[in-house]
Amino acid sequence: MKTSTKILLSILTLLLLVWFVPCIIFQIQRPQLKWNWSKIDVNKISFPKDFIWGVATAAHQVEGYNTNNQWYLWESTVDATGNPMIARGQLSGMACDHWRRYPQDIRLMKELGVTSYRFSVEWSRVEPREGVFDTLAIKHYQEECDSLIAQGITPMVTLHHFTNPIWFEKKGAFEKMENVADFVRFTEVVYLALKDRVKLWCTINEPAVYVVGGYFQGDMPPGKKDPKLAAVVLRNILEAHVQAYWKIKSLPGGDQAKVGLVKNMTQMDPYRKWHLGDWIFANLIEGVFNGTTLNFMKTGHYRFSMPTMAKLIDENPKAIGSMDFIGLNYYSHYNYKFSFNLDKAFKARLLPGEIKTDMDYASYPEGFYRAIKTVSELGIPIMITENGVADAKDDSRAQFISQYLYALSKSISEGCNVQAYYYWTLIDNFEWSLGYDMKFGLYSLDMPTQRRTMKNGSKRYQEIISEKLNPL
Ligand code: BGC
Repeated sequence: MKTSTKILLSILTLLLLVWFVPCIIFQIQRPQLKWNWSKIDVNKISFPKDFIWGVATAAHQVEGYNTNNQWYLWESTVDATGNPMIARGQLSGMACDHWRRYPQDIRLMKELGVTSYRFSVEWSRVEPREGVFDTLAIKHYQEECDSLIAQGITPMVTLHHFTNPIWFEKKGAFEKMENVADFVRFTEVVYLALKDRVKLWCTINEPAVYVVGGYFQGDMPPGKKDPKLAAVVLRNILEAHVQAYWKIKSLPGGDQAKVGLVKNMTQMDPYRKWHLGDWIFANLIEGVFNGTTLNFMKTGHYRFSMPTMAKLIDENPKAIGSMDFIGLNYYSHYNYKFSFNLDKAFKARLLPGEIKTDMDYASYPEGFYRAIKTVSELGIPIMITENGVADAKDDSRAQFISQYLYALSKSISEGCNVQAYYYWTLIDNFEWSLGYDMKFGLYSLDMPTQRRTMKNGSKRYQEIISEKLNPL
């Protein structure tokens, strides 16, 4: 063999070893599934008899006039270039007026046939000033739970869904470990007030989303872009979950309550499966966004690492065993292309051929299945606390529901212990920095008249619930 051929062969072998072999290993570890939907019968689904069917909302997105939290202030802030923080300068305003109209909304839930409702208790209403609790606000949530229960709908309460009272935000919110005690005191008050009515509790909604939005991308309050602080806030907010969990467990009836953390499981995938750079970058973000939290909850070891940007290592053995279930929120995956230009590298992309939702991501039911499999490894029950689609035209909602519930059913038939599914969301509502432009609701909302109308696509959910709850 000629020397030049030998050199060429060696280079090729080396390339194969250092470039393609790791890509193959990564692909085996985290396969990016793609199913052939034309060969799948989405009607072949089955669910356990006592499966919980629900819808989910969050206080600030639906209640209206939550004027005492950091989001309310944020909505009327402009950035350095004078642009409003919320799309087209929208404000949450009266939202769905759910604070006053919840009895009507419970009738919508009955119409859908759901058996459970996940909603959040607005901290800034319950504790408008530090240490001062508003008994009327607490009474409101007690009455809301009573109304739900009277209709045979099980309440599931979230204690923190992105919003903080202004006083808490001013003292640094979860940037400071000592502030965690405030959240735990609030947890205790709400738990004691609702414990006879509520058995399902979510402590914190999507810690990593709160941190990425507020401390990395800056599109949520407090709008900081500081990876080192992000690492601290994630650690502290997970600590808040751990302490809130053990607080509830120490209170009367706490052993009966089912308490979980809600984890958004967006997968961070490579744009090109054969590109080592894409894999390394995607795995890095996957590690910080998903791995750090899951690993902490499983082992008590906290490891947040973004080379050259932030590194924080800590531990808290009390994290182990601090979830009776994991709440899983799933919407889609993000795909990353390696680039030395970080702005480009951090840009999430759609894969060629993927169907975009109204959000900047694709419909990807296979990812839902993957996410369920991933959290199954924790060995605890799973509740799907959010899943839904923004679809203003309502021309893909029915298909979305069919395909995602197929993926869910498949995971259950393969042994995953999923006990509940909450569709996000009941009514079109305030979608954070995107305002009212995103239409996730099963019902549309005409804000001036506050009229709610069931969308055509939502009937698919209604049908499935009715078939599964009343099998022939
Ligand atoms: C949040 C919801 C939000 C939904 C749709 C989730 O990350 O928990 O508050 O409306 O996604 O974007």
